[in-house]
Amino acid sequence: MCGIVGFIGNKEKKDVVLSGLKELEYRGYDSAGMAVLNDEEIRYFKAVGKLENLANKMQDESFLGFGVAIGHTRWATHGKPTEINAHPHLGEHSFVVHNGIIENYAELKDELIKEGVHFASQTDTEVIVHLFELNLKQGLDAKSAWEATIARLRGAYATLLISKTAPGVIFFAKDAAPLAIAKDSAGEIFFASSDAALIGVAKEVLYLEDKSHGFASLGEIKIYSANGEIKPAFTALPPDKSYAQKEGYRYFMEKEIYEQSSVIADALMGRIKGSEVVLEGVSDELLGEIDEIILCACGTSYHAALVAGYLFERVARVRCKIAIASEFRYSEPVLNERSLFIAISQSGETADTLEALKIAKAANLKSLAICNVDNSSMVRLADASLLTRAGIEKGVASTKAFATQIITLWLFVLRLASFKGTLRGEALEREITAIKHIPSVLNIGNELQEKIRRISKHYLHGHGFFFIGRDVFYPLALEGALKLKEISYLHAEGYPAGEMKHGPIALADERLFCVVLMPKNLLYEKVKSNAQELAARDANILAISPDEFELSDDFIRTSAQTHYMAEFFEMMMVLQIFALEVSIRLGNDVDMPRNLAKSVTVE
Ligand code: G6P
Repeated sequence: MCGIVGFIGNKEKKDVVLSGLKELEYRGYDSAGMAVLNDEEIRYFKAVGKLENLANKMQDESFLGFGVAIGHTRWATHGKPTEINAHPHLGEHSFVVHNGIIENYAELKDELIKEGVHFASQTDTEVIVHLFELNLKQGLDAKSAWEATIARLRGAYATLLISKTAPGVIFFAKDAAPLAIAKDSAGEIFFASSDAALIGVAKEVLYLEDKSHGFASLGEIKIYSANGEIKPAFTALPPDKSYAQKEGYRYFMEKEIYEQSSVIADALMGRIKGSEVVLEGVSDELLGEIDEIILCACGTSYHAALVAGYLFERVARVRCKIAIASEFRYSEPVLNERSLFIAISQSGETADTLEALKIAKAANLKSLAICNVDNSSMVRLADASLLTRAGIEKGVASTKAFATQIITLWLFVLRLASFKGTLRGEALEREITAIKHIPSVLNIGNELQEKIRRISKHYLHGHGFFFIGRDVFYPLALEGALKLKEISYLHAEGYPAGEMKHGPIALADERLFCVVLMPKNLLYEKVKSNAQELAARDANILAISPDEFELSDDFIRTSAQTHYMAEFFEMMMVLQIFALEVSIRLGNDVDMPRNLAKSVTVE
């Protein structure tokens, strides 16, 4: 979610780091910083907001001559986007940058505080630099101190550290977050969390494996895995920058679809301890006052609200109302002070949702923002907030933001359900196992996309689409139809499968496309009869299910799962890819569809 860079050499370090960070800014930019170690003197600079604020601050600085430098552009997960919380984090004589989440930071922080360490920031990252310096104080040399530090970290990290005790060296480590080392023709060394920052700068690259660490200095790179030293094997860097930003995908939307497994893992990280859900900022006091939930949002976020509505009632047994923000605003709603108002928004700036939140606050309701952008207007206004940790979403058609909203809301449902005692023991454990399993459900291979790509050619004409499903698969049908509308400009509607017979079935003929969501773990037989009714009227059926539906014209097989939410997420990805492939065939601009905007700050 953040971007990191590092450099060892003689070039102007300010320029190398700033231009590297510029290439990574698309990953997150609520603050940025860098530290430079030249001639045993360390200096650092940090600024809140976009990278240009950091560049302006450093306008009169120059760092020529041999030295090392590290830089970071941040997308907040722990702690507000302030200058103190911006990386690099400092100890007494060392600096660290980090991308990922240290899950056991609270435990490490307690230990370090007992040793007399003072913490400046609210971040998880700061433990790394203090642990390293404590290890030095206890007599270890710098390399052993680094190894002892890494051995204590749990979670995800790509991290770089520089220290006055070892001038000319960058210490690095990587597990479950990307990190690459590169060299130019002069042998100068570069680090980056994506090769987007290395292309055009360095000649060859080495992508570090998980659970590796090491030390780099000019002329020497030592890399170690759990099994001992690894011989560095560099490969040539690809030539095209825009290709690199999209990490090889043709469109940002496509990249974001495939990122969903890893951003969901980020959204879960540190929020489940054993069979307990632990959510920062959600106190028992907040939960104790709730006897109703109001979920409010726009667009795709509204569909996430609809999904959550089923979960709140079924799992947490709390009454739930779901409102479209632009409707809620003017409906003169009757509000009860014991309702919790949840605003859901990727951007945190959507005008209608923000106004709805203000109305709820004015009526004395407690409020929670489920949001992807820290320090956004909604996060600042709500009593509590939960960040969805999707990283920047560039495609206008939302994908990974939707997926992480649902995961975050599901976590909140589980927290509330165990607090209220509506879910305990084995039932709670089953839900926890199910939610933890979602990242692996979304690790989908190329064959599925290839199959959808082939099928998509049947769906370029006709007189419209109905996407149908029941229960949580009904809002998923709405979302599938919205995705298709947004980027293909074809007419599509989402409908509750059981409601087709009350009107829309009149449209059924051989040119009506019906995309039917048929999960095995929820109301399979019911949806099947609805699909049979449509097939009997000659509608074209695209069935999505683990079990083949004999009346379908096209069929996409999903995997056999034991929880309906696992089926939900896999089908979500199928629908996103389906919209993408139809749009590509029609020659549309997938990432910037006509007439739409990523963030709508007007009514
Ligand atoms: C716009 C976007 C949609 C998004 C909606 C709500 O219409 O194009 O993708 O779902 O706004 O945005 P929010 O930032 O509040 O989730």
